[in-house]
This record gives sequence, C-alpha cells and structure tokens, in this order.
Amino acid sequence: MTKPRGELAYQTVAMPADTNANGDIFGGWLVSRMDMAAGIIGRYRAKSRVVTVAIEKLLFLKRVYVGDTVTCYAEIIKVGRTSMTINMEVWTLSLQDESPKKVAEGIFVFVAIDDHGKPQAVDRE
Ligand SMILES: CC(C)(COP(=O)(O)OP(=O)(O)OC[C@H]1O[C@@H](n2cnc3c(N)ncnc32)[C@H](O)[C@@H]1OP(=O)(O)O)[C@@H](O)C(=O)NCCC(=O)NCCS
Repeated sequence: MTKPRGELAYQTVAMPADTNANGDIFGGWLVSRMDMAAGIIGRYRAKSRVVTVAIEKLLFLKRVYVGDTVTCYAEIIKVGRTSMTINMEVWTLSLQDESPKKVAEGIFVFVAIDDHGKPQAVDRE
C-alpha cells in the first residue's frame, strides 16, 4: 500500500458547510486546507511569517465526502534564498474505508517575509 509522503501538517473533518453544488466537498475548501498546512510547515522552517506566492501543481484525484477525515501531509522539497517549495498530499479516511486514500496533491511555493511583508532569507543567522 502506498503511504503519504511528508509529515502530518493538518487534520480535520469535512463538514456539510464545505460542500459544492453536487453535495461533495468543494475543491476550493480543500486547496485552502493544503495552503494552510503548507504554511504551517513553511513558517516553522523559516521561523517567520510566510506567504503563498505560487501553486505550481494541483491535482484532484478523488472526490471527498462529508464526514471524511481529511489529512494534509507536507514535505519541503526545495529551499531557495527566500522561498520554499512544498509538496503537498491530501489523504482521506471515512468510517467505511479500510485504509486512507490519496485525494489530492500539489506543489506550493511560499516566501518568508519580514514584518513589512518584504521577502527575507529562509536561513538567517
Ligand atoms: C510573495 C511576495 C512577498 C514576493 O515579493 P517579490 O518582491 O515579488 O519577491 P521576489 O521577486 O524577490 O521573489 C521572492 C522569492 O519568490 C520566488 N517567486 C516569485 N514569484 C514566483 C513564482 N511565480 N513562482 C515561484 N516562485 C516565485 C522567487 O524566485 C524568490 O525566491 P528565492 O528568493 O528563493 O530565489 C509578494 O509577491 C507578495 O506579497 N505577494 C502576495 C502574497 C500573498 O498575499 N499570498 C496570499 C494570497 S491570498
């Protein structure tokens, strides 16, 4: 069985308020969870505020249903001067599932910023 890549960064349960017109979970909601999870990993790595500058890849692989446990895994795959490229995977588990399944993946780029919102080095003194 394939396993999630990266470290657990965020976990929640998909709620009825998070659905689209089909009654399944809205993709934008999922992206915001991925963004938040990547940001948590990025801010710990940079030890500063971070902002999303780009989403370089985003794939929705399977539908997500109300009541699923939604789990985001993050792995920093590249550190530039001020940027961090973070591989994200989302896995879900429902009460009916025997094992978690990967439902989305993406690559997010974050930039470390100072108190004025200007880029600053990820690795500082
Ligand atoms: C992110 C931000 C601080 C970058 O400022 P900037 O003056 O353009 O910074 P730079 O051109 O020096 O780029 C900073 C880093 O981002 C990288 N970067 C910039 N644009 C990028 C893009 N489109 N894709 C990938 N990386 C990018 C640069 O390569 C650089 O990385 P490095 O220092 O590791 O080499 C600025 O664009 C900003 O505040 N954007 C809004 C962010 C935001 O609000 N996000 C949430 C949206 S809701």
